[in-house]
Amino acid sequence: MDAIPAAPLRSRRTDVFRMLWRSSRDAKDTTARLAASNQTSASAPTGPAASTVKLHVRGISKAYGEATVLGPIELKVVAGELLAVLGPSGSGKTTLLQIICGLVEPSGGQLIIDGRDETDNSADKRDIGVVFQNYALFPHLTVRENVAFPLQMRRVPAAEIKSRAEATLAMVGLSDFANRFPRELSGGQQQRVALARCFVYRPSLILMDESLSALDKKLREDMRIEIKRLHRETGATIIFVTHDQEEALALADRICLMNEGRIEQLGTPQDLYERPANTFVADFIGASNLIHGSIAANGRLETRDGVLPLPDGCDLQLGRPAALVVRPEKLVLCGADEALLSGRVQESIYAGSETRLLVRLASGTAITVRRTAGLPPVEIDDNVFIRWERDQARVLDSSPSTSGA
Ligand SMILES: Nc1ncnc2c1ncn2[C@@H]1O[C@H](COP(=O)(O)OP(=O)(O)O)[C@@H](O)[C@H]1O
Ligand SMILES: [Mg+2]
Repeated sequence: MDAIPAAPLRSRRTDVFRMLWRSSRDAKDTTARLAASNQTSASAPTGPAASTVKLHVRGISKAYGEATVLGPIELKVVAGELLAVLGPSGSGKTTLLQIICGLVEPSGGQLIIDGRDETDNSADKRDIGVVFQNYALFPHLTVRENVAFPLQMRRVPAAEIKSRAEATLAMVGLSDFANRFPRELSGGQQQRVALARCFVYRPSLILMDESLSALDKKLREDMRIEIKRLHRETGATIIFVTHDQEEALALADRICLMNEGRIEQLGTPQDLYERPANTFVADFIGASNLIHGSIAANGRLETRDGVLPLPDGCDLQLGRPAALVVRPEKLVLCGADEALLSGRVQESIYAGSETRLLVRLASGTAITVRRTAGLPPVEIDDNVFIRWERDQARVLDSSPSTSGA
């Protein structure tokens, strides 16, 4: 928690900031940015101006010696979009980000920013702001001086530095902390200074690498809201790296889910949650139950826990290894006569508005069932029966070449 709570953001402060931000842009760019920043919904920007491609990662790859750690990656980021790059540790997220900002040279491919090939341009020539996980503030400079620093580097006139630094500090709710040193701030406040120091010079593309991971849960959630707001108010294109799927679902217009240097799926949070492309995605995004088996005749999946009905439209070949994916909220406890599965309650986890039951099937597969409050209690070791609507499950090919494993 904040030792000294920072003032919440207020929209009137940001009007000034928005004006300053836009004044530095050329007319064409401003038009696109206006269109993008007028987007108030969390969905990916639409419309002709907003659909401009800001960044095109064209077949980018990276190898260290014999080991290929990335790609080739193909990715288009739309101007004004907030894209989360999500994936387990070691999946290549930081490598991709460092190639985009110019700190790491790619082994192959091109990097197109605003339609220009920037592959061979050095980091300082790219109009990109980066916010690191560890804040990287200058300890001997005050908050105001830290925020002013990027403008001094760019030889902005003194009067303008002053007004822009003040406006940006106001935007992140730190006006009253301008004369403090970083060591006199809480973690959340230091993170806001790092954000302000990036936003102050109005980069049109902002990269954040696990920028919130060092914060505790409550602060992290507050910062998510602030980043979303900063994004909406400035219209900047933001690429946000995280290993936390909850963070990606909460923040992003689209998620780029990576695994072992490849993109497993690129889509809206709803796409990845409701229409996972493979079992890796289904397993990584949200809580999900995966029941493995093989495709049997008449639209069924043969599993070690019985033969289960498949949703309509399954076009997998007979005998093919497949997994049925059912989200915990789609499962209901029922009587033995309607049951598709049965198992023993192994754990019951109370979470206020709901109770999560961990049910162990005869095969050993664990299934999570969500029960809303108010239903009759279930005891550990009780035998329970489970059903779901056939079309609320998804079936995914789980042969090794497609599972992402
Ligand atoms: N300088 C390097 N030399 C050799 N291997 C590296 C280097 N940097 C990263 N890697 C490897 O590349 C892979 C991806 O790393 P990274 O991009 O940091 O993953 P992430 O950010 O998703 O955790 C890892 O296996 C890592 O060990
Ligand atoms: Mg990383």
